[in-house]
Amino acid sequence: MKLIMLARNPSLYSHRRIIEAARSRGHDIDVYNTLHVHMRITSNNAVLRHGGKTLPIPDAVIPRIGASVTHYGLAVLRQFEMQGVFPLNESVAIGRSRDKLRALQILARAGVGLPITAFAHGPRKAEDVVTEVGGAPVVIKLLEGTQGMGVILAETEASARSIIEAFSAANVNILVQEFIAEAKGADVRCFVVGGQVVAAMRRQAPPGEFRSNLHRGGSAKAVVLNDQERETAIRAAKVMGLNVAGVDLLRSRRGPLVLEVNSSPGLEGIEGATGLDVAGQVIEYIDARARRARRQRSGRAA
Ligand SMILES: Nc1ncnc2c1ncn2[C@@H]1O[C@H](COP(=O)(O)OP(=O)(O)OP(=O)(O)O)[C@@H](O)[C@H]1O
Ligand SMILES: [Mg+2]
Repeated sequence: MKLIMLARNPSLYSHRRIIEAARSRGHDIDVYNTLHVHMRITSNNAVLRHGGKTLPIPDAVIPRIGASVTHYGLAVLRQFEMQGVFPLNESVAIGRSRDKLRALQILARAGVGLPITAFAHGPRKAEDVVTEVGGAPVVIKLLEGTQGMGVILAETEASARSIIEAFSAANVNILVQEFIAEAKGADVRCFVVGGQVVAAMRRQAPPGEFRSNLHRGGSAKAVVLNDQERETAIRAAKVMGLNVAGVDLLRSRRGPLVLEVNSSPGLEGIEGATGLDVAGQVIEYIDARARRARRQRSGRAA
């Protein structure tokens, strides 16, 4: 296969592993910096250019688009889609997952378990939002937060109220969520590829911390999922329309609750914790899908 990866930094662990996995299976893979690709859009002719050259049409494109370049990155990915190239994850699906509120609404509509979450535009009455999710303690999250930064535990109504008021005064968008205490500072990352969980790890926060992010000092171990957890992760990826997804679950008294569905999940933590070749699974999935697409194309041509 001829593969193209869209990524800004090919030396990141995840990107390096995908490149290695592709080359070791005999595939040809080129990496382009998403921001250095430009596009020409004319009817019936979608062209991608890089450094004065037209990009070849690959068998598949692997988007690894950073959150800060989502808008432009998705436009580049759509250009490949206009050429009929198989995208590892489709631009619309990535767009859904990057919008936290939209993602929660899609998951909720599909009946996927979620922590009770409230959101209001500049809430005048902070106490109403807190009541909405069942009262303190509550978790308050910045809509733009990542790696655990911007996730706050408010243990009392009074502190929840002052935090919400401070953020709304500063015009910062937040959501308020019931605190799942019984998760005990742990969450479960399920790595889904092509409708199967290929690896899973449990991340545990250090003592005195409720956020299990590895960037916040959490530690990760391989974990065996129960059927309900596995089905929830697969379903969450499916309703978001993602072929590859990192689905984060909290283990609650009422079963697994989805925290988020990541469309560019990292490989370092999960391969380190499980010892599995997740990058290899991703490439083998692309190979199977790209072959199928090629057969369909040649079937149509014949
Ligand atoms: N409602 C909750 N109840 C209990 N613990 C929570 C809750 N929400 C989040 N946590 C803990 O805090 C961590 C960080 O929260 P979350 O994953 O929502 O934010 P983030 O990692 O900063 O953002 P993102 O995952 O969207 O990049 C979670 O991994 C989990 O351990
Ligand atoms: Mg997270």
